[in-house]
Amino acid sequence: MSRIISLGEQSFQALIQENYFYIDKTKFIKDWWLGGDRVTLITRPRRFGKTLMLDTVKTFFSPKFAGRYDLFEGLEIWKDEKFRQLQGTIPVIFLYLAKIKNVNYVQTIENIKDSLTTIYKRFKANLNLSLLSDDDQELFTSVHKSMSDVTAQNALLNLSEFIERYLKIKPIILINEYATPLQEAWLKTSGMISVISCVFFSMLHLRVIHI
Ligand SMILES: Nc1ncnc2c1ncn2[C@@H]1O[C@H](COP(=O)(O)OP(=O)(O)O)[C@@H](O)[C@H]1O
Ligand SMILES: [Mg+2]
Repeated sequence: MSRIISLGEQSFQALIQENYFYIDKTKFIKDWWLGGDRVTLITRPRRFGKTLMLDTVKTFFSPKFAGRYDLFEGLEIWKDEKFRQLQGTIPVIFLYLAKIKNVNYVQTIENIKDSLTTIYKRFKANLNLSLLSDDDQELFTSVHKSMSDVTAQNALLNLSEFIERYLKIKPIILINEYATPLQEAWLKTSGMISVISCVFFSMLHLRVIHI
């Protein structure tokens, strides 16, 4: 029976579970991982499948999906035992910036701070704050919606270091549409670009994919 093509679905989990038409691109995950690059920039036109691919990477590596063999069985990546072992074992920080459009400087910074705060909330349970040193606890709790610009600029870098230090594993950082706020900044006000670019470029030595 032919499968339904679901237009606009950006969730890998939903596509597979609903048995919608899916072109298996999971070999990308394998090639990317084995390539060992610390930073990957994917530049492809709209509707090329970038967001769905990032969601697939997240679903593959994130411990939140550990044991979800059902999502990957039959796909290219599942043929390799090494990758079957890797599934669900690496923390993933996912920053989604597509919504930061047509807004002014203040709203853009607020939006970025909101996104960072949400990410911190998600990791709060995993990290078990009581295990963090006093200094790290202070840094962790300084990330909230009304944090300073400097705190926001260091938030991703700090979170990745907390994960590495306390969970003993380097996280993967996925940034979807990282250029959207930068482009908005460029178009609207040149002062904004230095603050926003710091949020991303302070942690570019980590294992990151951004598109
Ligand atoms: N591997 C795939 N298999 C089936 N449909 C896909 C696949 N990749 C993308 N699509 C479809 O194309 C649409 C656009 O993909 P998306 O990831 O949003 O592109 P981009 O982020 O590059 O603009 C998705 O919503 C989905 O419906
Ligand atoms: Mg996209």
